[in-house]
Amino acid sequence: MPVITEIEDLRRLYKRRVPKMFYDYAETGSWSETTFRENTTDFDLIRFRQRVAVDMAGRSTRTKMIGEEVEMPVGLGPVGLTGMQSADGEIKAARAAERFGVPFVLSTMSICSIEDVAAHTTRPFWFQVYTLKDDDFMQRLFDRARKAGCTAIVITVDLQVQGQRHKDIKNGMSAPPKLTPSSIANMMTKVPWGLEMLQTKRRFFGNIVGHASGVSDPSSLSSWTAEAFDPSLDWERIKQFKEMWGGKVIVKGIMDPEDARRAADAGVDAIVVSNHGGRQLDHALSSIRALPEVVKAVGDRLEVHFDGGIRSGQDVLKALALGAHATWSGRAWTYGLGAMGEAGVTKALEILRHELDVSMALCGRRHIEEVDPSILMVDDAFYSYKPAR
Ligand SMILES: Cc1cc2nc3c(=O)[nH]c(=O)nc-3n(C[C@H](O)[C@H](O)[C@H](O)COP(=O)(O)O)c2cc1C
Repeated sequence: MPVITEIEDLRRLYKRRVPKMFYDYAETGSWSETTFRENTTDFDLIRFRQRVAVDMAGRSTRTKMIGEEVEMPVGLGPVGLTGMQSADGEIKAARAAERFGVPFVLSTMSICSIEDVAAHTTRPFWFQVYTLKDDDFMQRLFDRARKAGCTAIVITVDLQVQGQRHKDIKNGMSAPPKLTPSSIANMMTKVPWGLEMLQTKRRFFGNIVGHASGVSDPSSLSSWTAEAFDPSLDWERIKQFKEMWGGKVIVKGIMDPEDARRAADAGVDAIVVSNHGGRQLDHALSSIRALPEVVKAVGDRLEVHFDGGIRSGQDVLKALALGAHATWSGRAWTYGLGAMGEAGVTKALEILRHELDVSMALCGRRHIEEVDPSILMVDDAFYSYKPAR
């Protein structure tokens, strides 16, 4: 077993262990992948101010996210199909999050169902919904999430139409994987992955198959997803969903201050500044560049969370310093899951916490609440994109 000291080590191990189709599914962005790449590289335009001889005893990364105690402000964000990265992947990730003390967000497009995850955990998780045309199905999803003890729903608002990922089309990406000569040849080199996968019965979209009308068998799923997403989604509809759910609501996929104000007007509890990990609008700003303006617009009205490009605790600290109340990770924990299952997710969380804790201390801060923009120095290029005139 290689020595693992950073998230990149987990990514390399993940690439070796998991079939190419699923690795490519995660490690890609839409079209030219510009936004996908800049989500990570733009963090490099930000530097820390080192401070010394500041009392660093009694440090803590603990804080709250939407009122819930967390070990550090890093949630496991919703990632579809993680049950294909590792058998029963969502259960493993939810357990790692529970043991560590951070939120887990289950995707609508998960392999393990809401009920499955609830049966294997005790800490309440959050449930992410895509907004679909079918009100009955949405109401049933909310009811199931409530029954499973979910304490918040996350409404993802940036995927009513889908960005194109070339690799997924070329690989014929599907769950369960399509058996073609090249996918079979590749899977035969991933023996431990395959053996685990053979031992689980969870290989289909657990929240949908058997629950959405007309989807009793997985072969009809792709036509269902193409038709089910509601292209007419607007803020009125989001308010409707908020009422149907009746609990805490987080809106995910906000990049613009104007949209952030709309979300605040709709009375949601938090937003996530997110471009879907560079998987939707290619050439959108990186999330970290979009963050300061959103914070300026609504930071005093609701919690502004952040995701996109986080591969280290230093990245987390930079986002917090630019005004994010908390952050979510997508790929970093997925690498851990694919690399080493539940232990890999825990490892990813440990790495992020250690890096966050030490970097925070070297900036002269002992608590998350003390982190502010004054710990940063930012390159002019970071602010270089302006609205077109
Ligand atoms: C493989 C993959 C699947 C994803 N599936 C979902 C999903 O089902 N629902 C959702 O709201 N976001 C989804 N996302 C977006 C993530 O929640 C998150 O916004 C993004 O991954 C953050 O960027 P990062 O991966 O650089 O941390 C997915 C991202 C990836 C990489």
